[in-house]
Order: sequence, then C-alpha cells, then structure tokens
Amino acid sequence: MVTPYIIVEQSQPLKGQVSLNGAKNAVLVIIASLILTRGKSVLHNVPKSDDVLHMISLLKSLGASVFFFEEEHILQVDTTQLSSWNVNAEVMKKMRASILVMGPLLARFGKADIAAPGGCVIGSRPIDFHLKNFKKMGATVFENGDYLSAVTTGLRAGRYVLEYPSVGATENILMSAVLTPGQTYIVNAALEPEVMDLIDVLRKMGANIQVLAPATLCISGVSQLQSVEHTIIPDRLEAGSLLIAAAITKGEIEITNAIAEHMDVFLLKLEEMGHSIRLNANGQGIYLKASQNPRAVSFKTSPYPGFPTDLQAPMMAAQCIAEGISVIEETVFENRLVHVRELQKMGAQIKQEGTKAIVTGVEHLYGAQVIATDIRASCSLVLAGLCAKGTTRMTGIHHWTRGYDHLEKKLGFLGGNITIVNQEMPLSLTVNELGRENIL
Ligand code: UD1
Repeated sequence: MVTPYIIVEQSQPLKGQVSLNGAKNAVLVIIASLILTRGKSVLHNVPKSDDVLHMISLLKSLGASVFFFEEEHILQVDTTQLSSWNVNAEVMKKMRASILVMGPLLARFGKADIAAPGGCVIGSRPIDFHLKNFKKMGATVFENGDYLSAVTTGLRAGRYVLEYPSVGATENILMSAVLTPGQTYIVNAALEPEVMDLIDVLRKMGANIQVLAPATLCISGVSQLQSVEHTIIPDRLEAGSLLIAAAITKGEIEITNAIAEHMDVFLLKLEEMGHSIRLNANGQGIYLKASQNPRAVSFKTSPYPGFPTDLQAPMMAAQCIAEGISVIEETVFENRLVHVRELQKMGAQIKQEGTKAIVTGVEHLYGAQVIATDIRASCSLVLAGLCAKGTTRMTGIHHWTRGYDHLEKKLGFLGGNITIVNQEMPLSLTVNELGRENIL
C-alpha cells in the first residue's frame, strides 16, 4: 500500500501576502443545515478539504443534488428531492462532524438513522449533550451498538441547558429548533464565529434567532425555511497557522481577509511573544512581523472567545523555540497533547503533566520522522518542520488533507519548503505507530 507523506525542509523566513479559504468548521455545519430547506442554495468560499468532500457525499447519499465548482470554491446544493434520513455508516464514520445532520434530519423528517460518528464516540468522545437534549425535546433515541436511531412525532420547544458550551451540541439543537413551534432557549451555548456564521445562514433562510446575554440563544420556531446564498467566513484556524508559520521562521506576512476579532486572545499571545501585529482599519486583514528573539508565553485553551483548542498544537510548536518556559493547558479535550511526543522527537523540551505541557524553549529543533494523529497536530508538526534543521517527514497526512485546502501550497507560495510525496513511506515506521489516530 502506498502511504503518502509530507517532507518539510528548514525554510527561509516566510514573506508575502495571502488570503484565507472559508472556515472548514463553518462550512461543514452549514452544508448540514441545508437539509432544513427545499430548493437550490449556493455557498461561496467553500474550501476543498476532504471533510468538506465527505459532507458533500453524505448529502448526496440522502438524495441532494450537489455541484462543487472547486476552482471557484462555489457549492450548489439542491435539497428539493432529499428523501432519506438514513446515513450510510461508511460516510458517517469518516468524520465526527457527521453527527451534525441529526438535528436537521429530525426537524425535516422526524427521523434520523445514523451510525456513531468517527472514532470512539460514546466512550471518550461523547455525543451525550446532543442525545440528552434531543430526548428532552421529545425524540426517542435507540442506541444499538454502533447505530443510533431517533424518531419524533414533533419536537418540543423549551429551555435546554448545556453543562458545557459544546460547539456541535449547540449547532445540532439550534438546527432542530428553528422549525419547532414555540420559543426554544439554548443556555450556555457555544458562540464561536463558526456558530455565528451558521446563525447568519439560518436567519437568511428565514429563521428567527436572537443571541442573548449570557450565552443564550432564543429561537422562535417558523413553519418553513427557504434556500440561501451565503459566503463562508474566512478560516481563523488557517489564519492562526499562517501567522505562526511566519512567526516561527522569523518572517513577515499579511493575510488580507483575516478577521482580527475572531482571534483576539491568540493575537494577544503572539504580541506577548514579541511579534508585531498590525490590523487593517476596516477589521479585515492582519499583518505580522516576527520578533527575532521571541519570548515564551503560557496559555490555556477555552471556548470562544478564549484561546482556541484548535490552535493549541500549532502554537506549541512556536513555544518550542521561544526563549523561556511556556505552560500550556488544554482544557477543552482531555486527550489533545498527542503531538507532544512527536515534537519531542524533533528535539523539543516538553514535560507533560496530565493536560498540561511545560515547554522549555531550545535553540533549534531538528528534522525527524513524525506522525500526525489529528488535524491540528499535523499542522503543528509541519510548522515545527519549517524551522527545524534538516528534513522532517510526516505520515498520517490524511489528517492534513481533511482539515486544510492545500495549505502546503499557500505556505510554499510564502517561501516554505513543503512537498507531498505520493510514494511508499520510509520502512522505519512501524505498523503500530501508523495505527494511532484521533478523530476531531
Ligand atoms: C468542534 C470543532 C473542533 C473544535 C471543537 C472545540 C467542528 C467540525 N469541530 O468540535 O474543531 O476543536 O469544536 O472548539 O466544528 N463533549 C461532551 N459531550 C458532547 C459533546 C461534547 O462531553 O455531547 C465534550 C467533548 O468531548 C469536548 C468538549 O465537550 O471535551 C467540547 O467539544 P465540542 O465543542 O462539542 O467539539 P466539537 O463540536 O466536536
């Protein structure tokens, strides 16, 4: 079997101007939300990443007619003939975000038959917040091993409280509530920019949604929704990765369409490291000039507007060569420090204590053979490779292609030396190592 891998060479300071693709985490849920409508919708700024392609296959398998104009990043979806509420297990298992069709299917058909989404879900990657609230809304949920079946004769509006502001659970309950008669409240809702983009789309469809303080969504159900045309927000996680790439190589870049207010705490931490950041007056566009002697900073991940868990691994790479000690605490996911071991292979000085990583900056990282275990870990390792002496070879690149639309080309355009090799991986990697995975 041919296992492609990425080669990253130590690169010159990254320089230049780039723009972002649409946000993967917004587009996935927005495609799922089209199940709520009948008619032809058009989405602009759609990234061509593997997760997006999986979500397209999922909608097609339900009967939607879909055209993806990849070069133009335009997706046309006609959901008029959607006739199935039964999601193919093979598609479902490819990514956790497939669970996001459950709310829209319940709202449209009163039924949803799905397989448990990718990974060990009901155990350490639970979907209990989704299921508990669907039950409270009046759905009967049958769990049979790997399969979930939900049915309702009509969902009930009410006040649903999340014990944690889960992004996926907020989105799923929200999508099931927009067609439910009466007023539904989601208390302790996630308000990530991607959730707000979904709210924008649902409002364009005709939904009535208010965002109240503190972190509450109030949805007044409507009887039907119409198709939409919408441009997906720029990907703040791609923006973060590009800024770190410039910082780690001591370069200077401008991202023309990055939205600074989507990434305030992250930008604050880059500034504390000593990097210069300038924002365009209209709120779109971020310029970074890297410090030549970056200082280590500590941070803790938390729901928006805190430091995003999806930038924890990439930011850790930058701490590995910063001066001083950085304490990084992961609070969103209990097992999201798998990249520590891979960065250690590159010479990083990191001590892990539970969900904390204590990083002592070193003069240099060194190229090594490393394994990506989730989307953001793959990014962390590529970024580390850009500043490491020698050659870094990373396997597990399906995580990279799931999350990013050819980010290697964008980094290459800025001066990064990255190549995807479509041939046999080096023999020195063991089968066991390649088997380790994390689905986020
Ligand atoms: C989404 C993002 C992911 C990001 C995460 C947190 C997408 C496609 N993915 O994932 O990139 O890292 O938000 O910002 O948008 N939890 C439960 N029970 C549940 C649901 C979640 O215990 O029913 C826990 C999770 O295990 C995790 C925490 O809540 O510890 C946050 O997860 P959640 O916000 O739901 O993440 P996702 O929506 O899966």
